[in-house]
Amino acid sequence: MAAFAAFRDSARSLAPEAAVVLGSGLGPAVERISIVAEAKFGDLPGFAVPTVHGHGGRAILGHWAGVPVLVFQGRMHFYEGHTWERATATVRLAAELGVRKLLLTNAAGGICDDLHPGDLMPIRDHLKLLDRDAWKRPAEPISVYSPRLLALLPETFTGTYAALTGPTYETPAEIRALKAMGADAVGMSTAVEAETAAKLGLEVAAISCITNKAAGLSSGVLDHSDVQHVAGQPEVVGRMANLLERLIVEGGPGIP
Ligand code: HPA
Repeated sequence: MAAFAAFRDSARSLAPEAAVVLGSGLGPAVERISIVAEAKFGDLPGFAVPTVHGHGGRAILGHWAGVPVLVFQGRMHFYEGHTWERATATVRLAAELGVRKLLLTNAAGGICDDLHPGDLMPIRDHLKLLDRDAWKRPAEPISVYSPRLLALLPETFTGTYAALTGPTYETPAEIRALKAMGADAVGMSTAVEAETAAKLGLEVAAISCITNKAAGLSSGVLDHSDVQHVAGQPEVVGRMANLLERLIVEGGPGIP
């Protein structure tokens, strides 16, 4: 764990103000960072090497627009066979290293008619449909997503993200049910990370990159390589990086 000790020392001297998790396809946003130190997920305690193509599996310390940040290129998913403990290792490491603001990104299927591939949707609230009987339970009474950070992205539509376990995409009937429940987009991550961060006292924002119309809402067949292709388009990554940069620079260091 010498690699981790060196990384932790770099984090202590850099004192990152924000942690960012870059989801499927969005890894190239790291080009915005002037890198100070990096570590592979395999070198970090409680982490695992990502099995999903398109998830880099690197933790990076550096400056983004002059602000010290900790950026995770990739994440660990429940559908890869990880426990929720492991799937949230990024969040707990960020908190341990003193970060007070967490910015999550993901790829998601669009359910709301107004969402099209390539659109970015800041998440206002989520439906966490991950537990046994989750579909029978009402949503959490209070959203974990910071209204203060959302207000920094005023020109964009904000929506409700439904988190399912995956790994398979949904059926058209499930998408109709999710729509009736109030979901605007659907994906397989983020909700548990956001709740874990909020419990640890971090300020949280999350943005979905809509990579496809959800099942049954278009004629195409859903495929992970298409998801990655849409999210990874330089123009899409650039717009996502611009929103993250606004939250990093104008959002300040988060809850003290
Ligand atoms: N469903 C679930 N997860 C996803 C989707 C989807 O349609 N697109 C990207 N991630």
